Amino acid sequence: MNQQTKKRTLVTSALPYVNNVPHLGNMVCIISADVYTRFLRSNKVDVISVIGTDEHGTTTETKALEEGLTPEQVCEKYFKIHKEIYEWFGNSFDCIGRTSSKENYEVTQDIFKKLNQNGFIKKQIVVQAYCTKCDKFLADRFVEGTCPKCGYKDARGDQCENCGALLNATELVDARCKICGTNPITKETEHLFIDLPKLAPLLEKWINEQSVKGRWSQNAKTMTDAWIRDGLRERCITRDLKWGIPVPYPDFEKKVFYSWFDAPIGYIGITKECREDWKEWWFGDDVRLVQFMGKDNIPFHTVLFPASLIGTKEDYVLLDRISSNEYINYEGGQFSKSRSLGVFGDDAIKTGIPADVWRYYIMVNRPEKADTDFSWEDFQSKINNELVANLGNFINRTISFINNYTDSKVPKAKLDEKDNAFLQEIRKEIKKATELLDDIQLKDALKSIMHISKLGNQYFQETQPWKSIKENKAKAETCLAVCANITKDLAVMIRPYMPETSNKIFNQLNIQEKNWDDLGKLSLEKHHKINKAEPLLNKLEDNDIKKFKKEFGGKRMQEKTDERKDPFAKLDLKVAKIISVEDHPDAEKLLVMKINIGDEERQIVGGIKKYYSKQELVGRNLIVVKNLKPIVLRGKESKGMLLAAMEKQGDEENVKLLSAKNSNPGDDVFIDGIDKQPKKHLGYSEFKEVEMRTDSEGHVIYDGKQLKTGKEQVNVEGVKEGALIR
Ligand code: 2FM
Ligand code: ZN
Repeated sequence: MNQQTKKRTLVTSALPYVNNVPHLGNMVCIISADVYTRFLRSNKVDVISVIGTDEHGTTTETKALEEGLTPEQVCEKYFKIHKEIYEWFGNSFDCIGRTSSKENYEVTQDIFKKLNQNGFIKKQIVVQAYCTKCDKFLADRFVEGTCPKCGYKDARGDQCENCGALLNATELVDARCKICGTNPITKETEHLFIDLPKLAPLLEKWINEQSVKGRWSQNAKTMTDAWIRDGLRERCITRDLKWGIPVPYPDFEKKVFYSWFDAPIGYIGITKECREDWKEWWFGDDVRLVQFMGKDNIPFHTVLFPASLIGTKEDYVLLDRISSNEYINYEGGQFSKSRSLGVFGDDAIKTGIPADVWRYYIMVNRPEKADTDFSWEDFQSKINNELVANLGNFINRTISFINNYTDSKVPKAKLDEKDNAFLQEIRKEIKKATELLDDIQLKDALKSIMHISKLGNQYFQETQPWKSIKENKAKAETCLAVCANITKDLAVMIRPYMPETSNKIFNQLNIQEKNWDDLGKLSLEKHHKINKAEPLLNKLEDNDIKKFKKEFGGKRMQEKTDERKDPFAKLDLKVAKIISVEDHPDAEKLLVMKINIGDEERQIVGGIKKYYSKQELVGRNLIVVKNLKPIVLRGKESKGMLLAAMEKQGDEENVKLLSAKNSNPGDDVFIDGIDKQPKKHLGYSEFKEVEMRTDSEGHVIYDGKQLKTGKEQVNVEGVKEGALIR
């Protein structure tokens, strides 16, 4: 390792937005940071690693709207999911925290105050998108439209996903409010800006020096240069939102910080949340800050975050080395969190495939210089042909042979010229892998480690210990001793990548975990007794892959495809029989009903008290939307909704339930010619897209066709033609 790398090191992994379950693409950055941290630990470097969730901003507010939760509830829910997934994948972060913590409030507000005291904050009037229907200023992400740079139709107001351009919502062509679809107007509001032009001399000096010293990757340099070249503009760091860190500035009490201001500060906040000695890490002059992230995060880490810290005029530790990855695509398409496409952490867990196997695949497929693709076939092939056939096989045959031929005792090595030459080759490869890891080229380092295993297999194969044990015992024993030591080296070197597998190898070798400094040494003592061989890794079978592909891989793809299908296909309508009806204890207009839908009983809450007596309802066969997202109405859960037709009679509303008298509870309700592919949880807005009406005979019509069960047409008694179904 070089001197620089030996310094105390603070590793961070970009904090994922808390609005979704992380997918394999998100895991690239997280696992990379963990691999590097584990590598440093094995080299006895004083290191801590920091990760957490990015909880403020519009991504969270959007999710809250979608799920009918408050932003706090969204964060509670998803932070837990994120943490579980990070941990399930075998990550060993020292600090896992949240940008909404009290500590991050403190650090963010403190940094802001210092920036302000030092004259780096400016107040400006800005013209912003304002939705007259929603009656609020729209944060950039709440506006969608056509990208002015590349013409992409669904660009977000802050950044175009297609060309990567950073945008202002007001620049979008044909802008629309993401909440209600209305075209926003523009209106004036006051905001605070960080004065990057004023910080430019200090910032540019630092960038010029650090990008060389820290050997920043080419794309990090290019993206940073692009920001600088376009002229450092003042950047707005406040927002008209409720959810976020309040701005401690007169008349700004009701505004919050822009989430990209407090998110990177979150690394500091999270360290403070988890460690008393946080200052030693963030102000230590012997600390190297190494930051892992996706490529779209680069300028925030090379410009905005350092500028915020430099502007405090305190001695914060600034970015040293940046490791930015490109993206993993999913089965040839875009693997996108915002579009929910791909394999997600919870899916990976459900496959029963060990975390180490995922870690191996993600690292060997690490998108370092270009995007890579996840495909189930490639996954299967790399696991079976590389991991199992090469690494698993070498270690298993070495240990089994020692079990069987030398009574589980590591024999004495009597090295001849050939063995020495072979060991030299191994040591050369170890050096190469170490240098690559040191340089955070994690994919190539892993390949080099796998090459060591391949060389081991070749040596074993050429020496033929199964033969030579009879003809030339010393030769066979030397081979086994050498292979046992390489097995030990492999356990050390794969440890950052596959910690569980490494544990298993150390167990089978019956030794304590070794560190990097033991590599290349024949340190397993003569006659050391090892344990029994056990298979390390299993092959992925064709049938399983097929099953996973269907069960997990395409799931969210399917949902996406469904959106383009007939909206009716997403509904799951069933015949439901009312078993019992009670008044809602806390709501005058609501009834709480138990219904039978064939294979299950459910509770639903409905606002039909005004139109039906309880006696009229019990025993009737009605129609329920089975997959409507469950909601809680005044403390009572409602799983589904009864369909009713509504017509206006003067000022009065007449409401009648849809029924299917001659059908059985649980019978399917459908429209001929529409293939049902119900979503698990249907949103209310999706339900409302399906416009059904009644005809002159009280039958229910969708798209010109009648709604029915296998036995009859669904009907509504006592409403006239044209009533809306809701
Ligand atoms: O792109 C993202 O997922 C951001 N939430 C990354 C933030 S990194 C850091 F600044 F917190
Ligand atoms: Zn709106």
